[in-house]
Amino acid sequence: MAGITDSQFVKLLIPYGFDMVTIGGYNIDKKTIKAGEEIIKRGRKEFKIDEEEIMNHIENEVNEIKKEFNVSVSVNLRSTTPDPIIEISKIKNLDIIELNAHCRQKELNNINCGQSMMKNPKYFEEFLKELNKKSKSKTSVKIRANVEGVDTLKISEIINKSKTSFLHIDCMKPGHPYGDLEIIKKIKKNTNMFIIGNNSITDIESSKNMLSAGASGISIARAIMNGKPPFNLNQIKEYQESLNIRTTKK
Ligand SMILES: Cc1cc2nc3c(=O)[nH]c(=O)nc-3n(C[C@H](O)[C@H](O)[C@H](O)COP(=O)(O)O)c2cc1C
Repeated sequence: MAGITDSQFVKLLIPYGFDMVTIGGYNIDKKTIKAGEEIIKRGRKEFKIDEEEIMNHIENEVNEIKKEFNVSVSVNLRSTTPDPIIEISKIKNLDIIELNAHCRQKELNNINCGQSMMKNPKYFEEFLKELNKKSKSKTSVKIRANVEGVDTLKISEIINKSKTSFLHIDCMKPGHPYGDLEIIKKIKKNTNMFIIGNNSITDIESSKNMLSAGASGISIARAIMNGKPPFNLNQIKEYQESLNIRTTKK
């Protein structure tokens, strides 16, 4: 979560049993940094780091986590071109770079970043091809489901074909206070990626429903903003095992 999930924040959560944490999202090229400044002006939180500082900043954040915990660290990145992401992927202790094709802030969408990346499948495919060819870390793509003008299934197939390791999907169902589990089922049928299911995970039941639909893992955002997971993560791990799910630790 932009402006919120830094090393200090995730370090509070890791002892509860998370296998993976995601820091960011960070704006890492000139255009996204400028867009981030505009977003801040209208009162939303963003990480505000200069372009020259961003690599060092993220490296320090990753090391802050890794020196205390044996956990997979992912970093959510917004960029209008693959190169700055590829640079970040060279950080030694970083496990995963996550392309943010999810954000719906207009300042970022206006520069073809965030969810608007999915509106041009050809461009998206090329972007991912380059990223996966040159990344030194594992790759993840965060998308939002059910975006107007976007075929979520087609996009997930493009991501699958690009050899991206993780599909992190906010399966938001517009107008509903719960996620779209049908889209998870369909994606699972058509792809062989590790799916991290996200949206409205608040308790054991919503977590199990996401895993039963076909996600291999779950992610939680708003429900951990107070620095504590709302349920016992061991119960989720047991459920993953009962479904024979291969988790990120294995
Ligand atoms: C304040 C705030 C900031 C967010 N910033 C980001 C971000 O930078 N990158 C991203 O991929 N998702 C971001 N998200 C989306 C969340 O990661 C998550 O996908 C969304 O809130 C749905 O999951 P939830 O129901 O568990 O909250 C943000 C959400 C909130 C509430």
